[in-house]
Amino acid sequence: MKIAIVGTGYVGLVTGAAFAEIGHDVLCVDNDARKVERLRQLHMPIHEEGLEPLVRRNVAQGRLRFSTSVQEGTAFAEVIFLAVGTPPGYQGEADMSYVEQVGREVARHMDGYRLLVEKSTVPVNTSARLGRTMNRSVREDIPFDIASNPEFLREGSAVHDAFHPDRIVVGVESERAAARLRAIYKPIVDRSGCAYLEMNIASAELTKHASNSFLAMKISYINAVSRICELTGADVNHVARGMGLDSRIGPHFLQAGVGYGGSCFPKDVDAFVRLADELGYRLDLLKDVQAINAGQREHLMRKLQQELWVLDGKTVAVLGLAFKPGTDDVRESPALYFVPRLQERNVTLRLWDPVARAKFEPVHPGIPFADTPLEAARDADAVLILTTWPEIVSLDLDRLKSVMRCPVVVDGRNAFEPAVMLEKGFVYHSCGRQPQPRMH
Ligand code: UDX
Ligand code: UDX
Repeated sequence: MKIAIVGTGYVGLVTGAAFAEIGHDVLCVDNDARKVERLRQLHMPIHEEGLEPLVRRNVAQGRLRFSTSVQEGTAFAEVIFLAVGTPPGYQGEADMSYVEQVGREVARHMDGYRLLVEKSTVPVNTSARLGRTMNRSVREDIPFDIASNPEFLREGSAVHDAFHPDRIVVGVESERAAARLRAIYKPIVDRSGCAYLEMNIASAELTKHASNSFLAMKISYINAVSRICELTGADVNHVARGMGLDSRIGPHFLQAGVGYGGSCFPKDVDAFVRLADELGYRLDLLKDVQAINAGQREHLMRKLQQELWVLDGKTVAVLGLAFKPGTDDVRESPALYFVPRLQERNVTLRLWDPVARAKFEPVHPGIPFADTPLEAARDADAVLILTTWPEIVSLDLDRLKSVMRCPVVVDGRNAFEPAVMLEKGFVYHSCGRQPQPRMH
């Protein structure tokens, strides 16, 4: 099938490349002319494992092309996916201006039936609004449908997730739309055996809010438990394992630490709370989720400060700037909280991240970057760990200790074993754990 994808970011590019790989004819549209030009030269705008060869292969085979023109996308394909950004607006609500703009533009250029599929995370009932917007710009005799197909890709494993989803959720309210989406996803459903769920549009839109907020809630829950662990002598990793083996709970998303970041959880939880408020239902549960998440960062900051006593004039190595390993995305990453706060307190910073430098540097320019974690840690009074990159987890601890001025490690990801750190002579702070007492 011919498919246009408008918005060639983390979601749109991976989705477009995956659709091409399963045999569709895909035009990826983005209004960022530089991004489109670079993509045509096969320069990836994001770091995502397996993406470059996928794009390269499909471009070479002529199934994947790039354009800056929504008009061209509308002329090219009957099915148009919307994957433009929905950044947080003024008061935390999702900013829908890009979705609206693209909807209007598609409507203006349509010369026959089109199916518009919302893939960006949008508030429930966006489709109704989009429909009204399009009705104002489209010729009366031209039919169109809107569908919702929320995206569940995780950055860092997005290419894998695109071909092996847990489920595909589709919100459709016409047989014509349903048939087209079924045909598009058939190869993935056939190959992966994943569940394919059809529901009404509001349900599909809500599934995304509800899923992301639930995962964020799971993280905040274990973080709250980690605080109780610190006060009682329990170890949160052991508690999480004990909980996670209950198949009703499951082992995933129970990793305590500095809290969740990224382009989705913070924004989506916020938008869900706001949406519920607007609808007249107070989702205080999720307000607590947000408060716990923010509290983790502050708590870790206090640990660092208490250990260093006076921050002024100290040197801190910040290891890991991306919001999680496997991506160069720094949106809402914990590093964006710590770096300015430490700078304000006259701390000399040294940063390290294997791939996120280009995205982090424009936000906080002028801070020295090291090529390796050890180089960043040289002569540091403390190391602050914010992402579990493999290079961090596999650090040679003896060498780390030998290069640091003071062997203080504040670990926002529970990357190391407290007992080992103690034995190696580190002053080690992590989240919800204590050095294991010896058995007697
Ligand atoms: C975006 C949304 O922010 C997220 O809520 C949703 O779940 C999926 O889509 P992401 O792909 O990570 O997530 O965003 P981003 O990498 O910023 O990509 C959006 C792309 O849309 C950018 O390349 C941007 O240039 C493009 N865009 C934006 C347009 O092509 N037209 C516009 O009008 C606005
Ligand atoms: C998330 C959803 O998982 C995905 O389905 C959706 O499409 C987009 O949002 P992503 O933001 O890429 O994906 O990353 P995810 O792996 O969910 O992690 C989000 C944040 O939570 C990261 O900062 C991560 O470090 C943190 N996290 C995750 C924890 O702190 N503890 C955990 O146990 C799991």
